[in-house]
Amino acid sequence: MTEPASSASPLQTDPQLRRYFSSEDERRSTTRALFDRAASGYDRAEQITAFGTGPWYRRYALQRSGLATGMTVLDVAAGTGLVAREAHRIVGARGRLVALDPSPGMLEELRKKLDVETIEAYAESIPLPAAHVDFVSMGYALRHVADLDLAFGEYLRVLRAGGTACIMEITRPRSALGRMAMRCYIRAVVPVLARLARCTPDISMLWEYYWDTIQASVEPERVMDAMRRAGFEDVRCMVTLGVFREYVGRKPQPA
Ligand SMILES: C[S@@+](CC[C@H](N)C(=O)[O-])C[C@H]1O[C@@H](n2cnc3c(N)ncnc32)[C@H](O)[C@@H]1O
Repeated sequence: MTEPASSASPLQTDPQLRRYFSSEDERRSTTRALFDRAASGYDRAEQITAFGTGPWYRRYALQRSGLATGMTVLDVAAGTGLVAREAHRIVGARGRLVALDPSPGMLEELRKKLDVETIEAYAESIPLPAAHVDFVSMGYALRHVADLDLAFGEYLRVLRAGGTACIMEITRPRSALGRMAMRCYIRAVVPVLARLARCTPDISMLWEYYWDTIQASVEPERVMDAMRRAGFEDVRCMVTLGVFREYVGRKPQPA
């Protein structure tokens, strides 16, 4: 796997995250180890915390962003394959799916449910040729990407002209009340649910990190600015329940 060159990181400067890592290299190894260890329990934990709505929402987000039968999709940060599985169903037998993630443990889980091409790599350095896919998806991983400019530049490069990128992410609620409710849910409710479902300590640690990265996540306007800077057009952001966002942009057709 090629380690991406790192430049400015919006998360690294956040004091909340400094207790996990103090450099960009450390961030990558810490995050990878965290996901590797939690991989086997990830799907169950996701099912509990999202009350089973995860597959429905991921499918809905992909379809409303324009994913259709027969397309070639690159799912970045594919993890155990929760977005990839829905994308695979939508593109069908005439389409093609490539799943990319830096965590070998997460990809191993993905391969148990999907017979697709997998690549162990980072969003910031995608080992695929230019103009290779019709659609790039990414689910709930933008918070782990150090350099949005590098990642979005890579998405634009691997997309064919007219292709679409759809980035799903959870962001901090804008209101103080919303932030308090989310914090209470993740810090107090989720650990109880995890204990009831006998989730491992690795999963509990992952959820703690999960909340801290949401706290430190980049403002939606900065994400959209970075997409425009990379060269995407028609950049928009759809919001569900005030926290679930899909950032969507299109690669321009040549003039
Ligand atoms: C919360 S999981 C999301 C998995 C899946 N997309 C989903 O919807 O459930 C985040 C994934 O991002 C991956 N990841 C972390 N840093 C990354 C990076 N810089 N580039 C690509 N993937 C990354 C992790 O290995 C992990 O599998």
